[in-house]
Amino acid sequence: MDAGTGFDGMWAELAGIGRDATSGGYRRFAWTAPDLTCREWFTAQAKARGLAVERDRNGNLWAWLGERLPGPAVVTGSHLDSVPDGGAYDGPLGIVSAFAALDALAADGWTPPRPVAVVAFTDEEGARFGVPCIGSRLLTGTLDPTRAAGLRDGDGVTLAQAMRSAGADPAWLGADRSRLARIGAFVELHVEQGRHLANTSAPVAVGSGIWPHGRWKLTFRGRADHAGTTALGDRSDPMLAFAASVQQARTAALHLRARATVGKVTVRPNGTNAIPSEVNAWLDARASDEATVRAVVTEVVDAARRRGAEDGVSVDLAEESWSPAVTFGGDLAARVASQLGGVPVIPTGAGHDAGILAAAGIPTTMLFVRNPTGVSHAPDEHAETADCHAGVSALAAVLADLAAD
Ligand code: GLV
Ligand code: MN
Ligand code: MN
Ligand code: MN
Repeated sequence: MDAGTGFDGMWAELAGIGRDATSGGYRRFAWTAPDLTCREWFTAQAKARGLAVERDRNGNLWAWLGERLPGPAVVTGSHLDSVPDGGAYDGPLGIVSAFAALDALAADGWTPPRPVAVVAFTDEEGARFGVPCIGSRLLTGTLDPTRAAGLRDGDGVTLAQAMRSAGADPAWLGADRSRLARIGAFVELHVEQGRHLANTSAPVAVGSGIWPHGRWKLTFRGRADHAGTTALGDRSDPMLAFAASVQQARTAALHLRARATVGKVTVRPNGTNAIPSEVNAWLDARASDEATVRAVVTEVVDAARRRGAEDGVSVDLAEESWSPAVTFGGDLAARVASQLGGVPVIPTGAGHDAGILAAAGIPTTMLFVRNPTGVSHAPDEHAETADCHAGVSALAAVLADLAAD
């Protein structure tokens, strides 16, 4: 392999791409300029290593080592897109570590006995078009391509339009069975999004599974009117039913031991001196089992509708995405944990492309790198360089082991 940039160099190259000067966080939304710059960076890193790089029909990028070798491929990678004002590590750490792990193996004189690929999945966060893990859902056939092509961002731009303006053809979107069939195993390294490792001596953990979770759009419709002249009894103010939904999300999450978040809201017409005509809010709900997630959503909607009935406000609910509970790869997590010397095995409440592949039947595992702040989806997300390097070593060991199967 030719030399690409080393871990620290790769990290420095990515640091400036899509960083918001005010928040210090990243805004790398799918198919926007920062995302395209990250994609160019990926392609350059792949080429510098002599890897065969391609963009698949769903926009995911693949860099192949030994692509013509026989046997099922060992695939590693993550994503380069971010949430609004996201941290530096969520996604890119898995890609940079993948290239660095291949470098470490090459430096040891290792040659792959079967194909190995680094993948950058498209739009994992769903920050632009609402549905997370768009690239891996399309690959595995769990997202209808017609629905995907018509998803709209906040400005009304469809995914198809966004792809076209980036030079990608949305006509090809859809399940990619032969590519999926080539994947013998997938491993995604990710910064830990929580504090499990922060107080331990372990820099790396293995993922055991992912909580079921989903996203729901709530639409509250009332009647716009004057803030000063409309008597309280004459109002159909959708903000009140919205407020009831937020309060119930908290209450339900507390008593059902779940997580419920309303992190995105739009208000029409959004004027200080006008009663709104419409509020849209997005509920993110997660729990250790599916029935509990559903129970949270039901409680939230029931509370919103009770309040809406008092005010003449309608409340509509639409499921935007659903991610089933995932347990990683049978004995794969235990095998990887023992191979790495008994590192912790931990579940996560965060969604990942690894979960989508696991749900599609691909033997999958995850490695988590310690995050001293525990914070994620925010600029304070962090991992110490030494822990990142430990993650690279762990990933290299896992790749070599899986490839030797
Ligand atoms: C993605 O990171 C998610 O878990 O929402
Ligand atoms: Mn994320
Ligand atoms: Mn991620
Ligand atoms: Mn994620």
